[in-house]
Amino acid sequence: MEPSQVAIIGSGLIGRSWAMVFAAGGFKVKLYDIAQQQLMSALENIRQQVKEMEKLGVLKGALSADQQLALISVCTDLKAAVEGATFIQISLKVLVLYLIFYDCFYNKLLHLVMRPKECTPENLELKKKIFGQLDLIVDDNVILSSSTSCLLPSKLFTGLKHVKQCIVSHPVNPPYFVPLVEIVPHPETDPSTTERTYALMKKIGQSPVKLSREIEGFVLNRLQYAVISEAWRLVGEGVISPTDLDLVMSDGLGMRYAFIGPLETMHLNAEGVSNYCERYAEGMRLVLNTFGPVPEFSGETAQKVNQALSEKIPVVPKALDARRKWRDECLTGLAKLKTQMKSD
Ligand code: NAI
Repeated sequence: MEPSQVAIIGSGLIGRSWAMVFAAGGFKVKLYDIAQQQLMSALENIRQQVKEMEKLGVLKGALSADQQLALISVCTDLKAAVEGATFIQISLKVLVLYLIFYDCFYNKLLHLVMRPKECTPENLELKKKIFGQLDLIVDDNVILSSSTSCLLPSKLFTGLKHVKQCIVSHPVNPPYFVPLVEIVPHPETDPSTTERTYALMKKIGQSPVKLSREIEGFVLNRLQYAVISEAWRLVGEGVISPTDLDLVMSDGLGMRYAFIGPLETMHLNAEGVSNYCERYAEGMRLVLNTFGPVPEFSGETAQKVNQALSEKIPVVPKALDARRKWRDECLTGLAKLKTQMKSD
């Protein structure tokens, strides 16, 4: 039987990772981008990653690296890319020139860099344009799914003829090793679109969660920002150093959270959730009432955090890339451990 086919629009960091995830699930993948060069580098990068993972014994799925690679093809024609696809994942960003004034304690540099422009009206316009083009091409069965981390479905999909088939499937970087996908519907998304997307994500080995409605930041970033916010206030008030603050997470809470969430933590840290609330609700409210306002994320605290982190990991591509590589290796190991531990 011919494998089912998906199209991935945008072959950057997230697009290529989606391609690998779908190929691991046995899907035929057409990867589309406006830049041929970008597609070529995506293919080469995917080839290297898949081969490396096979060597390390962490390749996902039942197929060999060569079988998975044979499922992925590239294309610069949008219509041809989506032809025959039952699911289209859009993973776009526009590159623009930014002037970044980089003020660190060692030196002051004026950097002219290429940075991905995200969450801006122009970006929204680009994405809407692509969805508009797809809206004209697709039939009534295909699912149009966006990887966006911050654009609300109502901003992206309103007015499209196929709005019932549109949804956000927000991955976590790198999706190959961090399986969570937040599925966020537009108010007019058909429930069957949500269910089909959920089932598809399960099928390819991801870990989907459904939001009943759109909300700024979805869920993952709301939780992340709550943590960042309190971390910022504690460092700003001099309660703890930036380095020790990060340790609280990496050698404390984070170890637990790799396996169980905050609600199950409550359940296990007492004789069930009700008992936890009886015991700790008052204490939690007392602490929570001492939380300060939303930080500005600038000024002295920004300098303090920047200095500490830049001393640990200098803000130069070589050092940042080496640390990112190490982080991804850690995540690979953790993904393997989680499979062994069957955390469900
Ligand atoms: P990226 O900058 O690595 O890749 C974007 C790709 O889009 C590039 O290959 C570019 O050539 C292509 N592109 C630009 N305009 C295009 C057009 N008109 N048609 C076709 N391709 C076009 O971006 P990245 O990081 O992969 O992000 C993509 C999406 O994933 C964004 O919506 C972002 O919010 C979301 N996302 C990103 C995460 C991250 O950590 N990078 C995490 C979760 C979601």
